[in-house]
Amino acid sequence: MSTDGVSQAYGRWAPVYDLVFGPVFKKGRSEAVIAAEKIGGRILEVGVGTGISLPEYSRSSRLVGIDISDPMLDKARERVRKLKLHNVEDIRVGDAEALEYEDESFDVVVAQYVITSVPNPEKALDEFARVCRVGGEIVITTRVGAETGVRDKIERALMPITSRLGFRTEFPFSRYTDWAAGRDDIELVERRELPPLGHFSLVRFAKRAVDGGKA
Ligand SMILES: C[S@@+](CC[C@H](N)C(=O)[O-])C[C@H]1O[C@@H](n2cnc3c(N)ncnc32)[C@H](O)[C@@H]1O
Repeated sequence: MSTDGVSQAYGRWAPVYDLVFGPVFKKGRSEAVIAAEKIGGRILEVGVGTGISLPEYSRSSRLVGIDISDPMLDKARERVRKLKLHNVEDIRVGDAEALEYEDESFDVVVAQYVITSVPNPEKALDEFARVCRVGGEIVITTRVGAETGVRDKIERALMPITSRLGFRTEFPFSRYTDWAAGRDDIELVERRELPPLGHFSLVRFAKRAVDGGKA
């Protein structure tokens, strides 16, 4: 998978994205917004896409949305304008693997159904941790692949097709736990199964102070 390839794939999805992926991920998006707003404040949505989740946030949350696909963002901009979402500070093209924001500039980083589309997920997760303040959270909704059995075999076999559509089918949860285990400032605080079929999860990481860091 390459960032350019993924961007082109979502450029093709943009006109029909909400129709195809709106209802199926609705519950997960609502759960992610509820989790993010337990911290609240300034929230970065990475892979905001068509901005489908933006109206779900309360107007007291300040939102910044980035995405690699400008056609997806055109839909988001239209939604912000039509719904007068004045709490959306900015919508702009950006890469999850190289965020253009200062360290600790957000209270929460949200990434919904994005990580499995990113060529180097651990690099993106490091970026989320960098821009999240100590005491803040990273809230992710994600596909989680089976690690054994028939589903695992099918998911691996589908990878050449799904990667052209812009996402991975094969993605073990150990990629998240291994990433967190390699950092002393990140703690996995929740993993909760989401519909459809429990093939998706809500995952929350808290950013902790390390020795010498801010409390
Ligand atoms: C499955 S869609 C999810 C969109 C939205 N978050 C939702 O809940 O429906 C994945 C989104 O991630 C974006 N994306 C993929 N790779 C990215 C990257 N490296 N940086 C930023 N956004 C990326 C895609 O363009 C697409 O809009």
